[in-house]
Amino acid sequence: MISSRSVAVRRLTAAALVSLLAVPTLAATKPAVPVKKPAPAAAPAPAAGDPVNGQKRFKAICESCHFSLKGATLNDLRTKIGPNLWGVVGRKAGTGPSFRYSQAMKTSGVTWTPAVMKPYLMNPLKTLPNVRMAFKGLSTTKDADDIIAYLATQK
Ligand code: HEC
Repeated sequence: MISSRSVAVRRLTAAALVSLLAVPTLAATKPAVPVKKPAPAAAPAPAAGDPVNGQKRFKAICESCHFSLKGATLNDLRTKIGPNLWGVVGRKAGTGPSFRYSQAMKTSGVTWTPAVMKPYLMNPLKTLPNVRMAFKGLSTTKDADDIIAYLATQK
């Protein structure tokens, strides 16, 4: 005669076996989806250039009219005819503090992502006609990439 206790044990054992068998079966029927690395959501695309060389090129080419200085005061700003470029990467054009931008710059609708800044630095007046940046543009795209990489560190 089979006691009710041993039936319960057998049922349990059967259930355990089924669940043991079920695990590999389920795993095997799962489609092999290649694991994609999730793209970092809000992070800006890393600039391609070399920021160390970019700083040298910035000093040589841009610093006659701009500096990039954290917390510059109005007096500091008066020594340059261009705006302070601290924090400019990712900022809306014409919105830096303590500088009187041209109407063209203020209403350009541009945000200075690296991708937007690059053609601007190659040819400012073709990219944004009527802005007051009297600069003919960089002669190499490497200079543009490097300077942008440097400016991206200025925040
Ligand atoms: C001859 C002077 C001059 C030179 C050289 C110059 N800039 Fe400018 N830049 C200006 C002026 C003036 C403005 C403001 C233009 C306006 O308001 O229309 C400006 C604006 C800008 C802006 C927009 C800033 C903002 O807050 O919207 C960026 C970015 C910029 N310059 C980057 C550069 C870089 C990088 C270089 C060097 C490759 C450079 N400029 C060389 C005079 C200059």
